[in-house]
Amino acid sequence: MAERARVAVLISGTGSNMAALIYASRAADCPYEIVLVTGDNPDAPGLTLAAAEGVPVARLPRPTKDGRAEFFATLDRTLREAGADTVALAGFMRILPAEFVERWSGRMLNIHPSLLPKYRGLDTHARALEAGDPHGGCSVHLVTPEVDAGEVLGQVAVAILPGDTPEILAARVKIAEHQLYPRVLADYVSRAFDAGWIEAQVDALASRLPEVTRKTSHGSPGWAVGPEKTAKLFAIIADHHHGEESVGLLVKASGPDEMTGLIEAQPDLYYWPKYYGASGWLALKLNRRDVDWDQIAEWLERSWRACAPPRLTKLMRAAEEF
Ligand code: GAR
Repeated sequence: MAERARVAVLISGTGSNMAALIYASRAADCPYEIVLVTGDNPDAPGLTLAAAEGVPVARLPRPTKDGRAEFFATLDRTLREAGADTVALAGFMRILPAEFVERWSGRMLNIHPSLLPKYRGLDTHARALEAGDPHGGCSVHLVTPEVDAGEVLGQVAVAILPGDTPEILAARVKIAEHQLYPRVLADYVSRAFDAGWIEAQVDALASRLPEVTRKTSHGSPGWAVGPEKTAKLFAIIADHHHGEESVGLLVKASGPDEMTGLIEAQPDLYYWPKYYGASGWLALKLNRRDVDWDQIAEWLERSWRACAPPRLTKLMRAAEEF
């Protein structure tokens, strides 16, 4: 199994979702571990439970009225010191500053007690009951600066029964939350290793470049530039090619000197791909947690330039000068 994701959980209160995440992480095949539980309330009961379960806890002082920026700076530092790569909000009842969200963009999830996009914010169960909805439910979503508006990663609907009060419904929704959150988090942190997901990310970046078409190379997915008949491959995905352990992106480097230099300097990122290396293809390992997709975009563009017909590269230069 790939190295486990390092998840920090942020709570404000009871922490029953936190507990569900901790207990799910005890399974030998769980792709994440909980490396820290913290939050905005040093007296949160969930912190005591986490500590009793042997999970590292940071009891940060409550943010003061004027100390919001300082609190989130401390929180950010605490998360980094714990080596967290993913943040799971679990009943963390505080609006996050945009800069904090930005820093953890794509790596921070939240659980919300409604079927989003319905009922963002508070009092979700009362609002569902008042509206006469047949179901309440819960959602796990990515955190973006707008509250409860990020991409929904998973949901469970929970039937509303006659006589339900917000409290009764909340308790039943929590049962669903405890099933949903560990599963969605596990899937989310695993996708970095999924060749299909990796290919979709590369496709989104490669397709932004002019005159790009899909083409295979000995059965591997690739991207080519230029008119269909003469289109030239500039990027290929080598998925565990000939027994290699990586899902690699092959791009055109300037030659063997540059390739050996890069591989020596950053052996975790670059490698010499079997067969393809001999014809000037450099491989970048993509089945990692910490892929820098901006860097991948730069390599794709560079490789595109190396392979595009002069007519297109001229156009690109003209557009840059403009
Ligand atoms: C959960 O129901 C969670 O969905 C909700 O707070 C509760 C925390 O319970 N979160 C929100 O309302 C976020 N806006 P817990 O402390 O027992 O996990």
